[in-house]
Order: sequence, then structure tokens, then C-alpha cells
Amino acid sequence: AGNKLCRFPLKSVRGVPLMEPIAQKWDSVWAFCPDPSDLLIATYPKAGTTWTQEIVDLLLHNGDAEACKRAPTVVRIPFLEIYSPPPIPSGLDLLNAMSPPRVIKTHLPIQLVPEGFWENKCKVIYVARNAKDNMVSYYHFDRMNMTQPEPGPWEGYIHKFMKGELGWGSWYDHVKGYWEERERRNILYLFYEDMKENPRREVERIMRYLDLSLSDDVIERIVELTSFKVMKDNPMANYTFIPKPVFDHSISPFMRKGEVGDWVNYFSPTQLQLFDEDYERQMKTVNIPFRTKI
Ligand code: A3P
Repeated sequence: AGNKLCRFPLKSVRGVPLMEPIAQKWDSVWAFCPDPSDLLIATYPKAGTTWTQEIVDLLLHNGDAEACKRAPTVVRIPFLEIYSPPPIPSGLDLLNAMSPPRVIKTHLPIQLVPEGFWENKCKVIYVARNAKDNMVSYYHFDRMNMTQPEPGPWEGYIHKFMKGELGWGSWYDHVKGYWEERERRNILYLFYEDMKENPRREVERIMRYLDLSLSDDVIERIVELTSFKVMKDNPMANYTFIPKPVFDHSISPFMRKGEVGDWVNYFSPTQLQLFDEDYERQMKTVNIPFRTKI
């Protein structure tokens, strides 16, 4: 792996498995220094990143749908650490060509977020999704994204998830890391399930965190524009611009289902018991109010 697109192997960066090209460029990612006006959207992969990116972009553009179709999500809101051969643009190249205030996406666990974000007291929005739905979504994504490692069969995937052997590492450590720091570092910690349950409430929560105050009409429009159905048909938000050899939507569309509770269609009773017991062990030190149905 180096200059050709392929299913990249994972390589550990301070104990966290990352796609090899990211690991190779790690020093430049770690050295990135944001402006205090930059905003970070952080998630474990498949927790609702793209949805939150669209909400934030619309909030910052007063609900102007056309303005938010100026470019695909990854260009409007660069993905900090992503580094892979063309045609996927590298996050750092995009960021360096943009002037602040920028919105930046990352999947890095909190200890790998470049220190400048904390030193500059940047705003950070974290979105978490319950482990079971998050894993189902990641499984399908790994099938269709030809730069991610092969997911293999579902049965084995559960074990990789529990052991933190997927790209960006352990879901458990990820959600706990941001949770424990949320107050000290003024992180807005959101849940995918809350966004599904009451999108308007969560859009307003984000709006307040960004010190914005938009009219009721505009808020309502943003809720509509960021519904699963509308985003699925928005070529600037649904990832169809990524060429088929990279994202194969015929295997599984990026905008796949957008639901809470789809996991019930995947876990056998044995798998469920094993997963739940392990979950108790891994999550016993915290009390994060995850919901697996709404
Ligand atoms: P599913 O695979 O469960 O459908 P990310 O953007 O972090 O990669 O997360 C992708 C997941 O969020 C996918 O989940 C995708 O369908 C879902 N998603 C994207 N936009 C959404 C929206 N507007 N409403 C609800 N879910 C959305």
C-alpha cells in the first residue's frame, strides 16, 4: 500500500489501529494547529457524522440549501486525518487551502486529537450512537468502502468490534474518552438516537452551542433538509460523488437505513448475550445514557 487505492491494512498509532496511509502521515496530522474559530465534529465512524455535518453547515449558512450544495460534504467540511491516494482529497491539503473559521471532521479518539484544538479552546461537537446500531452500520460500510479492511462475516465482525480491531479502534474507548472530558473541555456531546427522536430539539441545541439564533422558519427548514430522505437524494451529502471503485453503493448505499434499532435484524440470541455481557464489562466505569431503541 502506498500510492494505490486498495483495502488498506490497519496500522497502530499509539495503540489505535488506523488505515495505513493515515498512520504513515501521522506526524503531519498530529502537528495540525487549528484556529480558535475552527469547529471540530468528532465521532466514531458511522455514528451520524455526515448528518451532523449537514446540520452544522446549514446552521452556519442560515438554512440556505443552495449554499450548502456548493461542494460535497468532504470538501465543505474536510476530514482532518484522511489521507489516501487520489481521487480522495487529503484532509490536510483541503484545510490548508481554506481560511478559518473552518468546520473540521475527525474520527480520532480524544487522545489523538491534535493538542492545538484544546489549547485554542475550539468548539467540539461529539456525536455518539449506540454500539449495536453503530456496529451494524460500520459492517455495511466496510463492505462498500474499498479502502477499508474486509469486514469478513458478521460473526467475526462482532468479535473485532468488541476487541477494538476496526479502523479508529475501540468504540468503547472512543465514546468514553469524549464523555469523561465533555465538561472540562466544553464538548457538546450528542446522541444519534436523540437526533432521530426529536431532530428539532437537537438542531436547536447545536444552534445554541454555536451562539447562533435563527428564526423558527429557518430551523424548521434545516430539520427538513437534514431528514434522512432528503439527504439520501442530495448528491452533495450522500457520497455518490465518490467513484464506484472506492464507494460501491450497489453493495450497500452510504445512506443505508438511517434508523434506530436495525441491530435486531442482525444479532442471534447467542451473539446478543455475548455482546451484552462484554458491554457490561467494558462500560462499567461510566454511565452514558445510550438507547438501543426509541
Ligand atoms: P445506517 O448505516 O445505519 O443507515 P456517518 O455519517 O458517521 O458515516 O454515519 C452514517 C450513518 O448515518 C448511516 O447509518 C447513515 O444512513 C446515517 N445517516 C446519514 N444521514 C442521516 C440522516 N439525515 N438521518 C438519519 N441517519 C442518517
